[in-house]
Amino acid sequence: MGPHALSDLAHRFGTPLYLYDLGTLDHAIQAYRHGLRAWPGPSLITYASKAWLSVPLVQLLVRRGIGFDVVSLGEMAIAQRGGASPSAIHVHGNNKSRELLSRAAGVGVHAIVVDNLHELEQILALKLPRPLALWLRLNPEQVPDTHAYRQTGHATSKFGLLWEEAQEAARRIAAAPHLRLTGLHAHIGSQFTQLNPLFRTLDRLVQLAAWVQKEGLGHIRYLSPGGGLGVPYHPQDPVTHLVAMVRQLASYAAQVWRTKMGASHPTLVLEPGRSLVARPGIALYTVGTIRHLPQGLRIVAVDGGMSDNIRPALYGARYTAALVDRPLAPPAGPAQVVGPLCESGDFLIESIPLPEARPGDVLAIPVSGAYHLSMASNYNGMLRPPVVLHAYGRLIMMQRRETPADLLRRDEPLPPVAD
Ligand code: LLP
Repeated sequence: MGPHALSDLAHRFGTPLYLYDLGTLDHAIQAYRHGLRAWPGPSLITYASKAWLSVPLVQLLVRRGIGFDVVSLGEMAIAQRGGASPSAIHVHGNNKSRELLSRAAGVGVHAIVVDNLHELEQILALKLPRPLALWLRLNPEQVPDTHAYRQTGHATSKFGLLWEEAQEAARRIAAAPHLRLTGLHAHIGSQFTQLNPLFRTLDRLVQLAAWVQKEGLGHIRYLSPGGGLGVPYHPQDPVTHLVAMVRQLASYAAQVWRTKMGASHPTLVLEPGRSLVARPGIALYTVGTIRHLPQGLRIVAVDGGMSDNIRPALYGARYTAALVDRPLAPPAGPAQVVGPLCESGDFLIESIPLPEARPGDVLAIPVSGAYHLSMASNYNGMLRPPVVLHAYGRLIMMQRRETPADLLRRDEPLPPVAD
């Protein structure tokens, strides 16, 4: 990474190790900015914090003018600790807690994105210090080409308001003196590459905006089709061009808006998670046990697994890998790359043509920056890996490795009365 050999970084910081390359992150942000030029009005990039959040990442993104989408008090606390202004925070989620709603309203977030009518009831019951801006999350009944667990815009999804529910919500908000309907949002899923469902989503959002304004129920100043743009993980995945995808999205949005709503454009808000942080991330592991089974199968065990990357087990996600010291050595047949955890589902790669590997070799898995560490667990008492930033040649620790003391911190000793 930059002038630093990956094997040196593995020895210096230990493995498993996650590295983030700032240049690659900046490149992705630029791709969004560039593509968004096809939108004639103002635009905003808000980072979907769930992809991976930490205080130093927030600091980096704040300096780059990026906003934040959060779904819990925890994400909101990290965003605020990193210096995100509440006015740059949107609050999402299909079952927001009362504490989250009242804290979000209390600190003055930019908007709470109403997901269902029950939540709206709770918002109506809040004692608000100032008028509160709300967006509606529409369920546009659109299904993108991705794993079923990542589809969120179909009619039976737990997320978002169906058309009539959205109309009902708009009416109730308009009738509440302290609430303002300022934006419309949808998010149909994640890791998809075909843009058509997103175009149909924009059609629905603009149709709803036209209805809201015709009925005099609000002034739509923000329009957001969410996030979800996919990235390639594996050599057989479709190649995606971020600038082109964002440009197509922005120019389609401009076209529908102009046709239905005229020349005054709202702020177009894109909400990327993965397409910003997946590619900057690389995971490094050290090879340990290697088993050669009679059937010709080779099982290569490394020191991390489903505790830092549950995606292969959960979605059948496919990755590629390389031995950092011999990336171009000829493959010695297929290998399964597994972790050390007590689960047969604990594998990182089900089958890959890997060169001859030896214990102590360092294995790199690229495209590891999104939804790995944010979904990490302490299963089997595993300690979550450190994260090091490569900032144009400099190395900066973003998160230290977890220690057994971290694992012990929440446990209370049993008092004698319990005997
Ligand atoms: N906006 C909302 C409201 C979301 O729920 C999400 C992701 C995003 C934006 C960002 O989507 P992205 O640009 O990252 O695709 N754990 C799964 C992904 C779950 C995504 C959840 N929502 C995975 O590892 O593939």
